[in-house]
Amino acid sequence: MSRILVTGGTGYIGSHTTVELMQEGYDVTIVDNLSNSSIDVLDGIEAITGKKPEFANVDCGNFMDLDNVFRQYPDIVGVIHFAASKAVGESVEKPLMYYRNNLGSLVTLLEVMKLHQVHNIVFSSSCTVYGQPDKDHLPVDETAPIQKALSPYGNTKQINEEIIRDEAHADKQLHATILRYFNPIGAHPSAAIGELPNGVPQNLLPYVTQTAAGLRPELRVFGNDYNTPDGSCIRDYIYVVDLAKAHVKAIGRMLTVEDREQVEVFNLGTGKGVSVLELIRAFEAATGVKLPYVIVGRREGDIEQVWAKPDKANKVLGWKADTPIRDVLLSAWKWEKKIRKIED
Ligand code: NAD
Ligand code: WQD
Repeated sequence: MSRILVTGGTGYIGSHTTVELMQEGYDVTIVDNLSNSSIDVLDGIEAITGKKPEFANVDCGNFMDLDNVFRQYPDIVGVIHFAASKAVGESVEKPLMYYRNNLGSLVTLLEVMKLHQVHNIVFSSSCTVYGQPDKDHLPVDETAPIQKALSPYGNTKQINEEIIRDEAHADKQLHATILRYFNPIGAHPSAAIGELPNGVPQNLLPYVTQTAAGLRPELRVFGNDYNTPDGSCIRDYIYVVDLAKAHVKAIGRMLTVEDREQVEVFNLGTGKGVSVLELIRAFEAATGVKLPYVIVGRREGDIEQVWAKPDKANKVLGWKADTPIRDVLLSAWKWEKKIRKIED
C-alpha cells in the first residue's frame, strides 16, 4: 500500500487524519516537532487503529532532517502538510516567528519533495483567506475573492497558497490540493484523541467544554449586536472526523484521477451557518450541562458571518460533512471529560 507523509500529524487535525488514512489501509509516517502536540498522541492513534504510525521528531524547516525522512521512507507517494503555527493572536505578537515557521516549512518541504520526486501535496488552508465575504458570496464558494489578511497567521495561509501556485507553474509534475477549512470542532468518538489547546483557549468550543468542566467560570460571548438573526457571529463548524475523511478523499483523488487540475481548491464545511448562541444552546441540549455565559463586547478582528458552500467538495471529492451537530458536541464533551478525569 502507499505511504503518506503527514506533517503536523500529532496535532489536532493531523492525528484524526492519520487515523482515517490508516483505517483506509495507507501507511503513514508522521513528521512533527511536537511544538504544539504531545508524543502521547501516538498511543491514542494506536488505541483506535491497533497500530502505531511511523514517527519522526523533525522540524519541517530543517532540510537535512526532512531529507533523511524521505530517504528512510522511499515509498512516500504523497504529503499532507498540516505543520504550522496557528494561533491568530500570537501571530500578531510574533509575526516573524509565524512567517519563518509557516513559510519556511512549506518551502523546505516542497524542495525536499522535488528532490525525492514526490509530486502530490495536500495543503491545510483556511476560510480566513476570504475575510468577510460580501452578501453575494455567502455561502462562500472557492471563487470568492481573497481579501487582505487580518493577521500574520492569515497572511501565511495566503502566501503559502501563492507559493504552491508559483511552484506548480514552474514544475508541471507538482500537483496540489488546497483545502480551506472552516471551523473544525469535536474529537474522535472513542475519545482516544482530540483537541489539546495550549493555555486559555481562543477558539469557541474548547472554551465551552472547559467552562462546562468547571475550569473557566463562564464563557464570554463576543458581541450580540451583529447584523445576524440573534446578533451573535455565525460560523460553519465542521466535525474534525468529517474533515479528516476529506483528506483521505483528496489523497485518493490525487493518486488515481489523471484528468484533474494541477492545483485544486476545495472549501471544507457543512454548508450550514451556526451562531454562537445557537451553538451554546445545542451544547446544553446535547449534554444536559448548563453553560454559564455572559455577553461582552465584540472581539477585535472578528468576522461577522461566514459559512461554506461545499458543493465542489461534495461533487468532486464525493465527500460530505454530515455528522449531526449533537454527536459532534457530545464527542467534544466526552473528550473534555476524559482529559479532566470527570466521571459521568
Ligand atoms: P495543531 O497545532 O494541533 O497541529 C499542528 C502540528 O504541527 C502540531 O502538532 C505542531 O507540533 C506541528 N508543527 C508546527 N510547526 C512545525 C514544524 N516547523 N515542524 C514540524 N511540526 C510542526 O493545529 P491543527 O488545528 O491541527 O491545524 C493543522 C493545520 O490546519 C494548520 O496548518 C492550521 O493552520 C490549519 N487550520 C486549522 C484550523 C483550526 O481551526 N484548527 C482552521 C483552518 C486551518
Ligand atoms: C468562533 C466564534 C467568536 C471564543 C479562528 C481563526 C481562523 C481559523 C479558525 C485557522 C466567533 C466567538 C469565541 C469565546 C466567543 N483558524 N467566541 N467566545 O474566529 O472563526 O476563527 O479559528 O485557520 O483563522 O481566526 O473561530 O473559535 O475563535 O470563534 O464568543 O470565548 O465564537 O467571536 O464568533 P474564528 P473561534
